[in-house]
Amino acid sequence: MTEILHVDLPERSYPIYIGTDLGDIFIEVTSRLRRDGRRVVVIADQTVARLYPDLLKRVVALGGKPLLLPGNERTKSLAVLGKTYDWMAGEMLDRHSIVFAIGGGVIGDLTGFAAASYLRGLDFYQVPTSLLAMVDSSVGGKTGINLPSGKNMVGAFWQPRGVLVDTAFLEKLPARQFACGMAEIIKYGLLADADLFHQVERTPVWRWNHPGLPALIFECCAIKASIVAHDERETRPSGGRALLNLGHTFGHALEKVTSYKGYGHGEAVGLGLVLAARLSQKLGWLNAKEVERVEKTVHASGLPVRLRQPVAVSKLLAAMKLDKKVRDGKLRFIALRAIGQAETVDDVPEKTIRSLWLQAGAR
Ligand SMILES: NC(=O)c1ccc[n+]([C@@H]2O[C@H](COP(=O)([O-])OP(=O)(O)OC[C@H]3O[C@@H](n4cnc5c(N)ncnc54)[C@H](O)[C@@H]3O)[C@@H](O)[C@H]2O)c1
Repeated sequence: MTEILHVDLPERSYPIYIGTDLGDIFIEVTSRLRRDGRRVVVIADQTVARLYPDLLKRVVALGGKPLLLPGNERTKSLAVLGKTYDWMAGEMLDRHSIVFAIGGGVIGDLTGFAAASYLRGLDFYQVPTSLLAMVDSSVGGKTGINLPSGKNMVGAFWQPRGVLVDTAFLEKLPARQFACGMAEIIKYGLLADADLFHQVERTPVWRWNHPGLPALIFECCAIKASIVAHDERETRPSGGRALLNLGHTFGHALEKVTSYKGYGHGEAVGLGLVLAARLSQKLGWLNAKEVERVEKTVHASGLPVRLRQPVAVSKLLAAMKLDKKVRDGKLRFIALRAIGQAETVDDVPEKTIRSLWLQAGAR
């Protein structure tokens, strides 16, 4: 069965289809677009293309060869963005062409930004294939690439025309990547929905064909859609879309300092959630028992709760200061008033953050 959720925005509302076999919807959507005379092209994760040859055949039947790219952070770079523009030019895309991004968050972020900027903006669809992309990155319109100075430093808010979430893709997703998706699911529970957190606390490990998985994904997308609908461009001075960054100020710094090799994005976020919970305890908001529940749930989902190797705390702090969430030179954090309720905090002393990193195994 396919569920449809709408992201309601003033100018670019769009549907998210969530189901267990959306092959038919993919065909229906692309056929409709082609009947309207629109050129449909695909940028896909090369691993996904290899694992799902039927999908590739369907894509090739649309006309034209897809651009296949590796699903790793190095793809979110100026060099690969340039290659993508060259491919778009070679395919002679015009302003009515439409691009499908089939892959994890890396392919979605890069394709979305290429679509946002090529010919001053092309329509695009997201077909997320990792759990993380299904519950988070494919929804909400944040697109972009990394710079050597930091993650997601160049990008645009560019909403997709639609999102097709097909849980059948998860069958071959490696367990480690599945766990990365769980980090974002735990994040949603912690920031907005205590029942969702309890659900994952009770069942931290999910399989691709668990009958409850589509509903879990729906719940996360619904939380994100509602937050994005109220603060599409993250302009609210407090709360709003920034809350979705729970655990991310820590996580992005760790990813950068370990050159995007040591930890998957979701793994870095998982550890970031634990640090955000400990920060909340230092603020007097969570108690020790609640922090322990967060840590246990993150751990049971297959995510790190300590650094795997010691990392210099000075490097982590320097990376945090370059984060986009810095406002007027002050580090900005999301902390938990309670499980299921997050708030922005601006005035956390550096020594507090340093001590959290040291407790997590930094040197
Ligand atoms: N735009 C946003 O709002 C937003 C939100 C969260 C994260 N992100 C970004 O998303 C990225 C992380 O996304 P990700 O975790 O999906 O990473 P990813 O795209 O690197 O995918 C992870 C791995 O899974 C593989 N893979 C993907 N789908 C598969 C499938 N169906 N079967 C087998 N293997 C598959 C990929 O090849 C890759 O090796 C980061 O760059 C992060 O910054 C963006």
